[in-house]
Amino acid sequence: MKVQVDARLRGDPLARVGLTPWHNDPYPLYDQVRERGPLSRGRLPGTWVTATHAVCKDVLKNRDFGTVGREGVGRESEEFDLSMLEQNPPDHTRLRRVAAPAFTPRRMASYETSIGKTVHALLDQAPAGEVFDLQRTVSAPLPITVISDLLGIPDADADRFTRYGTALGKALDGIKSMRHAHQAYGAKLALARMFSRLLEQRAADPRDDLLSVLAAERGETIRPEEILPLCQLLLVAGFETTVNLIGNAVHALLRHPDQWQLLVDDPTLAGAVVEETLRWDPPIQFTSRVAMRDVEVANTVVKQGYWVVTALGGANRDPAEFSRPNDFDITRTDGGDHLAFSSGIHYCLGAGLARLEGEIALRAIAERMPTLQLAGKVPMRRTTTIRGVRALPVRG
Ligand code: HEM
Repeated sequence: MKVQVDARLRGDPLARVGLTPWHNDPYPLYDQVRERGPLSRGRLPGTWVTATHAVCKDVLKNRDFGTVGREGVGRESEEFDLSMLEQNPPDHTRLRRVAAPAFTPRRMASYETSIGKTVHALLDQAPAGEVFDLQRTVSAPLPITVISDLLGIPDADADRFTRYGTALGKALDGIKSMRHAHQAYGAKLALARMFSRLLEQRAADPRDDLLSVLAAERGETIRPEEILPLCQLLLVAGFETTVNLIGNAVHALLRHPDQWQLLVDDPTLAGAVVEETLRWDPPIQFTSRVAMRDVEVANTVVKQGYWVVTALGGANRDPAEFSRPNDFDITRTDGGDHLAFSSGIHYCLGAGLARLEGEIALRAIAERMPTLQLAGKVPMRRTTTIRGVRALPVRG
């Protein structure tokens, strides 16, 4: 055991990212990764790591890298297929085109009103002057409602959809126990049944939602067996990311009262808060790419089949790219090129939607609860890829 611990404390700093105290604040570890060089050996054989902005961006944009190796190696698990996120072109391009119409700017504008209504309805449930958990009351239910609408989940199925989606979402950071594996598997089967029933209904009676698009394209641009993974990806992306954007933003603001005051004085700064949170404390901290052939990165040859772990949270604190990178400053003008939504062909398809939800929620919170304060210890999630709070006790 001692040998193992020692090994984790030497070498690749990312090996410690899940350990106390680093899981509360992993950012110093990313500085250590950068200090070892633009690209350094990872803990696992056949892996490299980088927390340097220019190198992360280069790897993510470089078409000699993919998200799945030549022989199809790379899937997290066969049980948990993440659709286009784990595909290379041309399948990636085809699947992305099927889902893209749900995310156009025109569509975003049409979601705006309903997002606003949902946010205010959720805030109505927050007890005035009393302690409540902002995650549970606002940050978590908002994205779930939005993705349910986008897909076209009927109200009657909404509760079950939320339950299954939550169980599946937890699996994104890796299965941690047998009980967890069992729950994720059960959720996947139940969702499959729900989606196939809804797809039958939409094929017969199409509506203005993504499930109707998928029902129409089934057997045309999308193979029947590709539909469930795509729905699962949207579900997990919708459930597990924006919740942490809102949570991390409010958490950061309340620990920086001067920044909170700036937002209260001018709620139109909500969009700037979203961008600075995405840079300073992004909900997705890592992704990775595999070399499809030998490829040179930062004067090093990454051999075909080797993986590069890109620490997005580290790239976003790179002093070569951002001035005073550790300062949370919603007025900064150099934060635009953060990598919170990745880069290249897998750039987050839901980025516009996540930004819109975040902006509307933060603006409403600042307008309606100008004296908001933290009201207790804030426990962090034990996950490492996903970064967020487990609860956010506040007093409105
Ligand atoms: C703040 C919230 C969000 C963050 C931080 C985020 C982050 C990311 C990142 C980092 C990737 C790329 C991973 C990689 O390059 O390997 C990604 C891809 C993706 N995201 Fe998001 N996401 C967010 C919200 C959403 C939402 C709300 C949706 C949809 C409802 C969504 C849908 C997707 C999809 C479909 C992909 C795959 C794109 C592709 O492979 O071409 N995301 N997201």
